[in-house]
Amino acid sequence: MAEVLTDVRPLEDFLLMSEVEVSESIEAAREALGKRVVILGHHYQRDDVIRHADLTGDSYQLSVMASQTEADFIVFCGVHFMAESADILGKPEQVVILPDMGAGCSMADMANIDQVEEAWEQLREIGVLEQRVAPITYMNSTAAIKAFCGRNEGVVCTSSNAVPLFDVYLRNYDKMFFFPDQHLGRNTGAKFGIPLDKMVVWDPHKELGGNSPEALLDVKLILWRGHCSVHGRFKDWHVDKIRDEVPEVQVLVHPECTYEVVQKSDLNGSTSFIIKTVENAPAGSKWAIGTEVNLVKRLSDRFPDKEIHLLAPDLCMCATMYRIAPQNLAWSLDNLANGQIVNEIKVDDETKHFANVALERMISMTEKKI
Ligand code: 13P
Ligand code: SF4
Repeated sequence: MAEVLTDVRPLEDFLLMSEVEVSESIEAAREALGKRVVILGHHYQRDDVIRHADLTGDSYQLSVMASQTEADFIVFCGVHFMAESADILGKPEQVVILPDMGAGCSMADMANIDQVEEAWEQLREIGVLEQRVAPITYMNSTAAIKAFCGRNEGVVCTSSNAVPLFDVYLRNYDKMFFFPDQHLGRNTGAKFGIPLDKMVVWDPHKELGGNSPEALLDVKLILWRGHCSVHGRFKDWHVDKIRDEVPEVQVLVHPECTYEVVQKSDLNGSTSFIIKTVENAPAGSKWAIGTEVNLVKRLSDRFPDKEIHLLAPDLCMCATMYRIAPQNLAWSLDNLANGQIVNEIKVDDETKHFANVALERMISMTEKKI
């Protein structure tokens, strides 16, 4: 642990700095902390933050990086559920910091543990749990929901490993209850040929999620009624429009987009898949990409020899991710360098234990290629 040298320095000090001063402050604190700190950045972060990251990745890669780093401090430039996962997977003495506590995820907020436990009890009452039902949660969920999955034979998945994990669970269980992104669940289920009438949506504000007991007994997938407000902005008519406007364009989208958009696209996959696909594409190829605007803009800057469009022209920015500004990063690092921990993300021990079961299960199944 760092020695305590001063009081916490207020964020306001950094808000008044020029851009250059903020950058210099970040670099000075990094130098003072050396290998004791690692800065992780999700691909959707803004340029002026991502340029300071030691390691960048999608949510799966970042969780593995967090489980492997030896640094004392993990400064997470991402959103709250990612920082929680880093705390769960990190060593007990490591400290995880989220530079702005307002960096949440609207999708993760669409399911809370009380609602999930209540839903599970309702399924038990109507006999659904007499079948083998696996609860699977997307990484974009609270630690408490991950722990629920860990306790009940379930697992966490991300957009980059949903397909192989579904493969195992669909072969070994009668049914999956998937939280909280209905679109990733539906799109992944469809890849296994599950017809839409074998999937139902669970609305947490309705009795039995708004379904009949017969339907819940019959279906293969129960999909929590959650979605991403960023990827939800892409509509199927955007795909038609770009195909009309840009001949030979290939449409590449994140599986958090709706079923209709994914069905009309050429390719879909996690943020890393999107990056790799563009990296490997030939010069002159044309792409319309349905994901967060910061990532699409960076790809377009990196590959001027390829024609890259954002699938929808209106603003598709993850506003919560954007809350982590360089000023917040400078503030948290400067305080760390002065022995003060600000904005620590800490999951309680019991939740951590069971969430870790579900996360480690995910990592070992993914690394073993299942
Ligand atoms: P990835 O798993 O592709 O990083 O996606 C995380 C996310 O929040 C996308 O909206
Ligand atoms: Fe959450 Fe959507 Fe932002 Fe991803 S892009 S962090 S799912 S709000």
